[in-house]
Amino acid sequence: MSGIESFNPVTPQGLSIANLFLGVMVLSALIFLLVAGLLTYILMRYRGRPGDPDPPPVHGNRNLEIAWTVAPALILVALFILTLRTMNTVNATVPEALRIRVIGHQWWWEFHYPDRDVVTANEMHVPVGAPVLLEVEAADVIHSFWVPKLGWKKDAVPGRTNPMSVQFDQAGVYDGPCTEYCGLQHAWMRIRVVAEAPDQFEAWIEQQRRPAPERPASDRALRGQKLFLRNTCVNCHAVRGTAAAARIGPDLTHFGGRSTLGAGVALNTPENLRRWVRGVQGVKPGALMPNYAELPDDDLAALVEYLGGLK
Ligand code: CUA
Repeated sequence: MSGIESFNPVTPQGLSIANLFLGVMVLSALIFLLVAGLLTYILMRYRGRPGDPDPPPVHGNRNLEIAWTVAPALILVALFILTLRTMNTVNATVPEALRIRVIGHQWWWEFHYPDRDVVTANEMHVPVGAPVLLEVEAADVIHSFWVPKLGWKKDAVPGRTNPMSVQFDQAGVYDGPCTEYCGLQHAWMRIRVVAEAPDQFEAWIEQQRRPAPERPASDRALRGQKLFLRNTCVNCHAVRGTAAAARIGPDLTHFGGRSTLGAGVALNTPENLRRWVRGVQGVKPGALMPNYAELPDDDLAALVEYLGGLK
């Protein structure tokens, strides 16, 4: 993940911006070279030498003045037209686009597919080659949604919905950060976009729509489920298919299928999940979740087995 990726985007919208940037850059470089070159030449060629007489006074040159007014005006008009073309490409919406609400929270991202009944966090799946409409919002403070491979970014502002039309033309996994300082864990508010073939995407959607199994596979996970439902976990988290339905923190219905936890702060392994539940404030200081430091070891193990099993 780096800013350079913005110049090599995988979306037609980003490509249009990158091309405009490149065009403006080349034009500016040419003008700079012309001006600096002429200036250098004139300084050398016409510099004063000892014994030179005073130069004759000059009172303007109408043709030159018209030329250096009209030429920049024409260049600006051309840039304006090119910019309008890029804006039209970037802002064009497609009515049948897949809608995804992208909601920035301190400090994680919620992805809600309103027409497909899917809610997930931090990892967004999209079909390759299909138009997608991101509706970028914020739940608390201003965040900014930036996946460099998209080619541009969009601010997430409380009380507003900022539309962002995208189309991923290449399959892949694209990472990005939040790029608007939003508090202590601004750095750990990572985004992962998985762009995959349409049938793979549909399979993912079908799997995400399913509620969690009513009865977990193992006895230990069943104990973990009871602990989860009995503890304050349910004040913030939802696991569809159980009584847990809070919308403050990330939806955990398919938590075990995500590759990281804490919006990218650690890989989603049982060991890291144990560290997270026991002492989240050591792993991600300031995260809006309390430590469960008093939890006995075997309870913690049961809870971790339950959550990790929610694939
Ligand atoms: Cu969210 Cu920075």
